[in-house]
Amino acid sequence: MSERDPLVLFMPSGKRGRFPVGTSVLDAARDLGVYVESVCGGRATCGRCQVSVQEGHFAKHGITSSDDHLSPVGPKEERYDRVRGLPEGRRLSCSAQILGDLVVDVPQDTVINAQVVRKAADERVFDRSPAVRMCYVEVEEPDMEKPLGDLDRLLVGLSEQWHLSDIEVDFHLMPQIQSILRQGEWKVTAAIHRDRDDDRPRLIALYPGLKNEAYGIACDIGSTTIAMHLSSLLSGRTVASAGTSNPQIRFGEDLMSRVSYVMMNPEGRGAMTLAVREALNGLIDKVCADGGIARADILDSVFVGNPIMHHLFLGIDPTELGGAPFALAVSGAVKLTAQEVGLPLNAGTRTYVLPCIAGHVGADAAAATLAEGPHRQEEMMLMVDIGTNAEIVLGNSTRVVAASSPTGPAFEGAEISSGQRAAPGAIERVRIDPVTLEPRFRVIGAEPWSDEPGFAEAVSAVGVTGICGSGIIEVIAEMFLAGIISEDGVVDGSLAERSPRILENGRTFSYLVHEGSPRITVTQTDVRAIQLAKAALYAGVKLLMDKQGVDHVDRIGLAGAFGTFIDPKYALVLGLVPDCDLDKVKAVGNAAGTGARMCLLNRGYRREIEDTVRRIDKIETALEPKFQEHFVAAMALPNKVDSFPNLARVVTLPERKSQADGGDAGGRRRRRSRE
Ligand code: FES
Repeated sequence: MSERDPLVLFMPSGKRGRFPVGTSVLDAARDLGVYVESVCGGRATCGRCQVSVQEGHFAKHGITSSDDHLSPVGPKEERYDRVRGLPEGRRLSCSAQILGDLVVDVPQDTVINAQVVRKAADERVFDRSPAVRMCYVEVEEPDMEKPLGDLDRLLVGLSEQWHLSDIEVDFHLMPQIQSILRQGEWKVTAAIHRDRDDDRPRLIALYPGLKNEAYGIACDIGSTTIAMHLSSLLSGRTVASAGTSNPQIRFGEDLMSRVSYVMMNPEGRGAMTLAVREALNGLIDKVCADGGIARADILDSVFVGNPIMHHLFLGIDPTELGGAPFALAVSGAVKLTAQEVGLPLNAGTRTYVLPCIAGHVGADAAAATLAEGPHRQEEMMLMVDIGTNAEIVLGNSTRVVAASSPTGPAFEGAEISSGQRAAPGAIERVRIDPVTLEPRFRVIGAEPWSDEPGFAEAVSAVGVTGICGSGIIEVIAEMFLAGIISEDGVVDGSLAERSPRILENGRTFSYLVHEGSPRITVTQTDVRAIQLAKAALYAGVKLLMDKQGVDHVDRIGLAGAFGTFIDPKYALVLGLVPDCDLDKVKAVGNAAGTGARMCLLNRGYRREIEDTVRRIDKIETALEPKFQEHFVAAMALPNKVDSFPNLARVVTLPERKSQADGGDAGGRRRRRSRE
């Protein structure tokens, strides 16, 4: 390579280098470590290696790039275009040779055979470097003079044509090798798995002829729902997505009740493992049918889940996670075959399970961290996944800390008198008029609000059956904004004089949301349950902020299904999370699934999250002396000591009323608690 050689810049990676005239663009990309797919090994038959040239003068790079700086289309490329068709402006990088300076675009969405494409929940496109590669190879025919076996000649071919040496071979292939080679007339495609660059390559599947496609699944096993994406390993496209509810719900609504079930029933662990694996198999059938592919074409798989789901999926007893010190059986990434976890796919299909962060902060939080990347940015980012245990991650590129807080099941609707899971009939949105104290609400499964025409008709099918998590957050926040509850969470009984919505229950009061069957109210006990849950979450967040030495966060990601439906404004009014610019509080609902997909399509992300998880400081909230102090302050709405200036810009918070003991830490006046 000399200074006079053409300069080639690859986009979007930005990698660049000089290459002698006549070098193929594919070889140049490989030399620089730019990932360009190739199945046929440069024979111009697979079409996977497509690139395009950006024309023009790129002053910043000192490059004048032109189509003419590539060799003209030759016979092999012309044949591919004629038979399979090349999109306008695309070239096959294995055939196109460098003649002059170039800016080369590597498209991340090379579509072959007009693959069916479904809109996935998240259409982010990632750089690819999958663990499974498809390698077309021409094998020498058997010869009496050379006694090398079929498999051995295949390995010679892989070494000569793909520079793959020291290959391990899955035993299940041995009985099939003879017939596959003959069926393909000595031309076959080998699926080679290599999780790390320094791993020995492993032959996991073999196909006659050119096999120009391979798939993988990425799956988030949530305690309530399981979501799966089917992606092409060769183009990165999400081909199908599907979700189902976790059948383990029949053993217990929340995680801890499922652990109790295992403790109480000797068969419990096995039954729950079987239930989740059956659900996964059902989802695999669905994504395969939607994508029009065979199960055997799935060659790689990635799974994430909270620690208890992670253990049950792997067939590990989760009992240890039910109490201190919450010891995980395995915290690092787990690599195995899909068969070993009861998923009949291809006999060679591999499975990668992301690492868990701690006993209560699972592989789902690790995947969400990978997707949102607090460790890649300067801003201090808070991520919370709210469930029975809130998983909390706080950090930036300098340091990341994580903890879990025992929020209990209140946010999921349990322990709330009118609470229920988010399902048709559940109230999910609530507004309260501060003058009349009259509520209006919206129900899952019905479009209109309760005060709009057509509401009665719309809810006739689903009914008004309870309040789900996001509805509980809103109704309590709205009760606070309307002055129905004080900052200490006490329902103001004196309001019963002016509103029939305030009902007396012995020594306390409740608020009537909906008069029907069932009658839906928010009781004093409900408010307390939410206060306890949100105080536990906030105290956990504050501990992490203490560890980071910060008094505010720049960005908040609310993960999980609950985070998707919760209105950030009400999360702040309630004091669930610290004050933050509302524009920077976002639901990152499918972040865990996105992280799983990243690990499916690029092994580099596996190393990134393994390394990040090793470096995350885990904080055990129960052991921290300041937890109690933060917890007590966080019982108030939004908080006894912390101010919410960003929130105050968009919402008029009730004035703090005076307290008999006079004053408070914030110097504001507050009313005496009436309990
Ligand atoms: Fe297969 Fe270029 S590598 S067409």
